[in-house]
Amino acid sequence: MSNRMWGGRFATGPDAIMEEINASIGFDQKLWRQDIRGSLAHVAMLGQTGILLASDVATITDGLKAVEAEIEAGRFTFSRALEDIHMNVESRLRDLIGPVAGRLHTARSRNDQVATDMRLWVRDTVDLIDEQIADVQLALATKALAHAGAVMPGFTHLQSAQPVTFGHHLLAYVEMLGRDRGRFSDARKRMNECPLGAAALAGTSFPINRHQTAASLGFERPTANSLDSVSDRDFALEAVAAAAITAMHLSRFAEEIVLWTTPQFGFVRLSDSFTTGSSIMPQKRNPDAAELVRGKAGRVFGALQGLLTMMKGLPLTYSKDMQEDKEGVFDALQTLSLCLAAIAGMVRDMEPDLKAMKRAAGLGYATATDLADWLVRVLAMPFRDAHHVTGKLVGLASQKKAGLEKLTLAEMQAVEPRITQEVFAVLGVERSVRSRVSHGGTSPRLVKAQAQRWLKRLGAAKPS
Ligand code: ARG
Repeated sequence: MSNRMWGGRFATGPDAIMEEINASIGFDQKLWRQDIRGSLAHVAMLGQTGILLASDVATITDGLKAVEAEIEAGRFTFSRALEDIHMNVESRLRDLIGPVAGRLHTARSRNDQVATDMRLWVRDTVDLIDEQIADVQLALATKALAHAGAVMPGFTHLQSAQPVTFGHHLLAYVEMLGRDRGRFSDARKRMNECPLGAAALAGTSFPINRHQTAASLGFERPTANSLDSVSDRDFALEAVAAAAITAMHLSRFAEEIVLWTTPQFGFVRLSDSFTTGSSIMPQKRNPDAAELVRGKAGRVFGALQGLLTMMKGLPLTYSKDMQEDKEGVFDALQTLSLCLAAIAGMVRDMEPDLKAMKRAAGLGYATATDLADWLVRVLAMPFRDAHHVTGKLVGLASQKKAGLEKLTLAEMQAVEPRITQEVFAVLGVERSVRSRVSHGGTSPRLVKAQAQRWLKRLGAAKPS
């Protein structure tokens, strides 16, 4: 049997393999809400412009709502022979209301229809993701305020560098996530133009009102060029690119959680809700959720690469290759959404071990810079000379297998005779973090203020 929607000039139906490679209903059924929303807006406009009779518009509108109710209730049978969501919906509409259903597709093509559906889906999902990112920021900033002054080691090269505070460390991720939200909101602005009415590629001879459909679907305006409208997937690319960067940030944080929860670090403990046991080693508490967030970043990056590669060779305008945009976009954004939920849960439940962090903060000569700075400030040494003297003192302490503070004043003076007893005051980790008062620095006072600023901002952004 030839296809009921477009089979006019076909004598027989497609080969089974043709049907299999052609069909997208297995994955684009996810677009059902957007598809019906788009059709309702389109048919209302066809009525208002006098292209369709009001009575037909009413019949089609009721029919579309009936189809929507069937899908919502799980009573709809999706058919692969009908290829995609657009034709599944329209075909069912015809079952319900008869041949008048065929008028819905006036002045429209599946090309502008799918472009509209995808924009709506991506826009809805980006809005959800923005809320979820804000929720992770809220969880992080709340923990950061509670631990604004908790000393931990700061690392470069994953080697102890200088003491920082746990709150400061968490707020670094709040900043990253703030930029991520900026990227999504930027993408949303460009995405928010409506391709509906571009028809197959050239526009239509019917007197449609694209401004009306654009407004009723919540778009800023209709897209300006009909060829671009049906062949553009930048909106999906930008959203997935923003998702890839966010997933990279979450993956870095997840990696830190994996490190911090090892007995070797022991900086934080995750709750039972976000850990799993081992079937053979009874002592294990594995940070699986964090590992999965780290691992799933790969899928999101892959989707971006897949989409870019799919688009790069396409001449204007629509090509069927573009049907391949969907699975990657759906998977990338839904994966990110799941990762955000998991990270929010882990952050809210995580318990830092403040003693272990502080102990670790003093290891690895983390206050060597404080010593060098003291030499500069008190003895007026050029920083390079101070660096050299401090290096010698670290070498000496390291020979003794002890911390800098365990050197005697005499040992220090053997390297630099002008050193006084006062130097010992700057060798403590608490003192070190308190001294970092430059803008954006780790001093607990500044960290507290930053956490409060973020909490206020996030609270203010939340709809009441
Ligand atoms: N299922 C198709 C897609 O997702 C819809 C557009 C089909 N257009 C066409 N001219 N065959 O791309």
